[in-house]
Amino acid sequence: MNLIKKMLVAQAAVLALLAASAQATTSDDAIAKRLEPVGKVCVQGKECEGVGAVASAGAAGGAPRSGEEIVGKVCTNCHGTGLLGAPKVGDKAEWGKRAKEQGGLDGLLAKAISGFNAMPPKGTCADCSDAELKGAIKHMSGL
Ligand code: HEC
Repeated sequence: MNLIKKMLVAQAAVLALLAASAQATTSDDAIAKRLEPVGKVCVQGKECEGVGAVASAGAAGGAPRSGEEIVGKVCTNCHGTGLLGAPKVGDKAEWGKRAKEQGGLDGLLAKAISGFNAMPPKGTCADCSDAELKGAIKHMSGL
């Protein structure tokens, strides 16, 4: 065998070793873990692994957040400073005028859901419920 052939054989041997050790690290435990079912059933009122007692109705889907919380997390990004012409938090006169134009709080809510001009649909709070949005508008407008 000439030198080049020898080197190739040596490299192939190293590769084979690497492949074998990579497989060896995949233990049966690891495989069993991967085959575990994804979900676990938790029974209401009973201890549930990693969760503690499962809360009873209501909190399961997440308790509704307060208007203040939504405004603080989302709406204030624009409504805090009046960015892009957004009516400012607490500017009762401006909010009052808009409420009149839209036919009250529910009209404003409808606009907030659909979005208009620079106001994005749901004010970018995609996971906000209508009730949460309404609470946020109440908090900003004082209506
Ligand atoms: C990206 C900036 C931005 C964010 C975030 C935002 N808004 Fe607005 N919003 C605006 C702008 C700009 C206007 C004014 C649009 C106009 O009058 O042309 C506006 C207007 C409104 C109005 C008045 C609608 C009307 O008919 O006059 C409501 C209600 C409203 N926003 C609710 C919300 C709520 C609730 C949130 C938070 C969940 C929110 N907005 C988040 C930019 C934003």
